[in-house]
Amino acid sequence: MKILYVTSEAVPFCKTGGLADVAGSLPPALAEQGAEVAVVLPLYARVRDRFGSQLKFECYDYVDLAWRHSYCGLFSLEKDGVTWYFLDNEQYFNRGTLYGQADDGERFAFFSRAVVRMLDHFKFWPEVVHCNDWQSALVPIYLKDDGVREDRYRSIKTVVTIHNIEYQGRYNPYVLGELFGLDAGWVKDGTMLMDGDVNLLKGAILCADAVNAVSPTYANELKMPYFAHRMEGIMRRCSDKLSGVLNGIDMKLYDPRTDGRILKNFSAEDMTGKDACKAELQRMVGLREEPHTPIVAMVSRLVSHKGLDLICEVLHDMMELPMQLVVLGTGDRRYEEFFHWAAQQYPGRMTVRLDYNEDLSMAIYAGADLFLMPSKSEPCGLSQMIAMRYGTLPIVRETGGLKDTVQPHDDYNGVGNGFSFTNYSSGDMLHVIREAVYLYKDFPDLFGNLRQRAMACDFSWARSAREYLRIYATITGQTWPLPSDTHRAAEAPVPAEESAPAAEAAPVEEPVPAEEPAPAAEAAPAEEPVPAEEPAPAAEAAPAEESVPAEEPAPAAEAAPAEEPASAEEKPVKKTRKAGSKTTGKTEKAEKKAAKKAEKATTVKKGTAGKKKSAE
Ligand code: GLC
Repeated sequence: MKILYVTSEAVPFCKTGGLADVAGSLPPALAEQGAEVAVVLPLYARVRDRFGSQLKFECYDYVDLAWRHSYCGLFSLEKDGVTWYFLDNEQYFNRGTLYGQADDGERFAFFSRAVVRMLDHFKFWPEVVHCNDWQSALVPIYLKDDGVREDRYRSIKTVVTIHNIEYQGRYNPYVLGELFGLDAGWVKDGTMLMDGDVNLLKGAILCADAVNAVSPTYANELKMPYFAHRMEGIMRRCSDKLSGVLNGIDMKLYDPRTDGRILKNFSAEDMTGKDACKAELQRMVGLREEPHTPIVAMVSRLVSHKGLDLICEVLHDMMELPMQLVVLGTGDRRYEEFFHWAAQQYPGRMTVRLDYNEDLSMAIYAGADLFLMPSKSEPCGLSQMIAMRYGTLPIVRETGGLKDTVQPHDDYNGVGNGFSFTNYSSGDMLHVIREAVYLYKDFPDLFGNLRQRAMACDFSWARSAREYLRIYATITGQTWPLPSDTHRAAEAPVPAEESAPAAEAAPVEEPVPAEEPAPAAEAAPAEEPVPAEEPAPAAEAAPAEESVPAEEPAPAAEAAPAEEPASAEEKPVKKTRKAGSKTTGKTEKAEKKAAKKAEKATTVKKGTAGKKKSAE
């Protein structure tokens, strides 16, 4: 499986947010599972400055976009089993910041056009191009546009991951030809038109073969007006190709047993190091050195969707509890001013650092006791997972990835890994904070058990990578597990569906009649049912057909197991691809069969030990 991963940022090269963490970790995790992976991103000034000496110049070419004919250099670097490509154009990328420039639209149109132009120069012709957010949203659109003229572009399947639907890439429709080099038809048929604007993300969602959000709950939330920033109609219409795949974290980087960035290492078995980290944190930020007072922490961008209004409403009630509060982050001025002012009321008990500081954030994860994230919406969120890894229990609102990663504690049944509340209400939040603080003070054993469970959670990328591989396999019509993964499937015979229910691709309800002006392509009535035997992949038919939801191959992960027995055994995958969700039961059967086969093969090889494993 050859995957080209397109991103506008990736750790360790350049980072402004969570996308960079994901793009830095997912490709190596895919490679570890046997996929051939290349990542492509812009060669920003900061990448050239820090990694310039390690980059290998591959070649250059010219990119035609509207009337522009621009140079594009190609550099590469091998790391973690992945080839990282950097596209060079100093006019667009030799700048101090990644985004926020007046010509961002032109810059990322160039980037997306260049990705497609440079396909000839990459080490392989990809089977799947995986794009992220609005900055690379034009890639599936350009592939579709070019695919009308050249067959080879139609062989590429596309995945779009939505990390935050708030940012859609919206422009005046007049710029369509001038800036993006596209025909007016893209706007006229509605594919790229939204509320009178050209909307790059909408176009990508309609053109892509699969779309996913970064958590199952967020995938469902995207169909609701409260969360979708006016895209709910589109998301509902695309629900048969929409799934949710939970992000992971780098479990090696964030390991309290080995992390060199924290004062003293510790583990679930020996928490004495955490006590030292707590004392150190209190010293660092000017909190009273009280070992038995719980520290509630926030490391967050100080923006509205992080739920800061709830804290503003009840901060003084919170501070009546026997707790300390530390806040680290920058953002909107009104929140910065509020926290700055509030901290002055509680010297020694509340402290605020209006800063983005990696070292201090690690000291907080390691030294605090509770981690507060009352977000109004949170596509996935990584901090709560990092906090849990360091035994700092999350207090979250049940939304997006927070809901999928934090299970409220239930001492009676001995389950849960944190604290949560449902309604966006400061009273509810305060109630849960109180509960957490008193569990810490009055029931240290129960709090300790909860800590152990949080620290034992598996947030590794391997699980998410498997989910993505399954999506890639579905859209390219390959069997799952991929041949290169069969040995892994045999090693871990537990179906992914059972391993972590919350982390699975979210089943999405049946499509709701579209409220959006349907693009001509989508409005077209679905053609007469194609015989299931037809091998022609739907996605390779005329591009317009791909947007018709009924024809999209539903990712296997989303499909509810079909009741009817799969009678015909031959070529089950080909059938599924054309026949849609009705035949997904057959696909699952075929998948299970393949997994069983692989399992058998391994069992034979492994002898008794293997048998034991497969019997588990
Ligand atoms: C965005 C989202 C965040 C998510 C990250 C990585 O930054 O706001 O919730 O964790 O992307 O997908």
